Amino acid sequence: MPKVSTIAIDGPAASGKTVVGRNLAQKLGFQFLDTGLMYRAAALATLQQSTSLSDDAALANLVSEVSITVTDTPNGMRVHLNDEDVTDSLHNSEVEAIVSRVAAVTGVRTVLVEKQREMAEPGSIVMVGRDIGTVVLADADIKVFLEASAEERARRRQAERSQSDAKTSVASVQEKLEARDLQDKQRTESPLKPADDAHILVTDGLSIDQVVTEIVKFVTARE
Ligand code: CDP
Repeated sequence: MPKVSTIAIDGPAASGKTVVGRNLAQKLGFQFLDTGLMYRAAALATLQQSTSLSDDAALANLVSEVSITVTDTPNGMRVHLNDEDVTDSLHNSEVEAIVSRVAAVTGVRTVLVEKQREMAEPGSIVMVGRDIGTVVLADADIKVFLEASAEERARRRQAERSQSDAKTSVASVQEKLEARDLQDKQRTESPLKPADDAHILVTDGLSIDQVVTEIVKFVTARE
């Protein structure tokens, strides 16, 4: 049995969790799960059903009734909401504007966390999100919290999205990221924060490969 089986990566918006987590999983031959996609799918379902954002019970009920499936494919993660592949709609501005509100609802998190734990059951997994090291996999073998300045994260996000959203300024991207971070940090249920035993990596000025290499060092140190 390898000593490291579960790796939790958390951090604020656009801190590089997804690309770092994916590359790390590939390197280790592990499964990869980006839990943010599940919250984004829940937010999309809310928009499709016009569920009231102020009705926690209705939001929780909606998420327990829809089917959200996440599959790791050679072309990246694909997400199905009921039978529809909604992957390409999950990063639009309507979803992004409400996802943190939907994710703050306890009943929504209960449903999604249960699915995430089921997916982690076979082991050998890199899971990324906001509460993986603190809640979902609180006993993960390795926990990493990625930090970067808001300016750097906004630049990265703008570059990622520039083709589809060329007119958005870095300043407006930064404003939206910071608003989402604030909501994620201030919520009562599973707020965004590093686990006490997380390695905190500040990634300003580091390449993706450098961050992956740092995490691989934590893994090999355990073996
Ligand atoms: O890619 P980015 O960092 O911008 O966001 P994401 O990881 O796709 O997550 C979108 C939103 O889902 C976050 O702002 C949180 O509100 C929520 N989320 C969460 O509450 N818990 C998680 N484990 C993952 C995401």
